[in-house]
Amino acid sequence: TPVAAVIPAAGRGVRLGPGAPKALRALNGTPMLIHAVRALAASRHVSLVIVVAPPDGAAEVKSLLDAHALPERTDFQVVPGGQSRQESVRIGLDALPPHYRIVLVHDAARPLVPVDTVDAVIEAVRDGAPAVVPALPLADTVKEVAPAAVAGDPEPVVATPERARLRAVQTPQGFDRATLVRAHESVTENVTDDASMVEQLGLPVVAVPGHEEAFKVTRPLDLILAEAVLARRRL
Ligand code: CTP
Ligand code: MG
Repeated sequence: TPVAAVIPAAGRGVRLGPGAPKALRALNGTPMLIHAVRALAASRHVSLVIVVAPPDGAAEVKSLLDAHALPERTDFQVVPGGQSRQESVRIGLDALPPHYRIVLVHDAARPLVPVDTVDAVIEAVRDGAPAVVPALPLADTVKEVAPAAVAGDPEPVVATPERARLRAVQTPQGFDRATLVRAHESVTENVTDDASMVEQLGLPVVAVPGHEEAFKVTRPLDLILAEAVLARRRL
């Protein structure tokens, strides 16, 4: 079964600070999006990559992809994105040719995911899971807080979930295509990942081991870490 990947890359990257849209920022000279596309195309199972570009940047993204060689076996397509990540993913799914029964959704903001992680997600979907997430144990203890009585005051802590049972979830997340399409059609509230929409359908979601290098580039410090990881790989 061939696998397609949808790469939402339409965000501005507000938390990264002023500059080009996040996916187009360079990491050691190459746009983050190109690193992300290559990371997924590195899997020999992935034969199509659909990039969801910033709404006004589709032509620029198309020429970037034309300029950076992908493996022979990998096709790509560029579509303009939407106002939210969720909308961008839905637009990407709409562009998917019918014969792809397995789809990965991968943040352009996770440019360094290793191919072994990509393949582990694909394998778990092939083994029958309708939704698969790569996940890591947490280093920090997590607390649930309530809103402060007065804005700016300390927030009351209301609970401490047992850390050993928590996981930080990454991408690519892998799906039975029909299941993910149905999830996007029926879940209307805002979510922060695709698998949670499948959970809301009442279907099982499973976690496979994620990887530290699949971290999301979100804030300026993450750029420093990403460039250091890339430099180490070239040694
Ligand atoms: N994304 C998207 N369309 C949107 C918003 C986000 O395709 N309207 C994508 C981003 O390009 C990114 C991924 O979703 O690859 C994860 O989102 P995030 O890390 O939050 O990126 P941004 O939304 O760009 O960053 P910020 O929230 O700091 O603005
Ligand atoms: Mg965002």
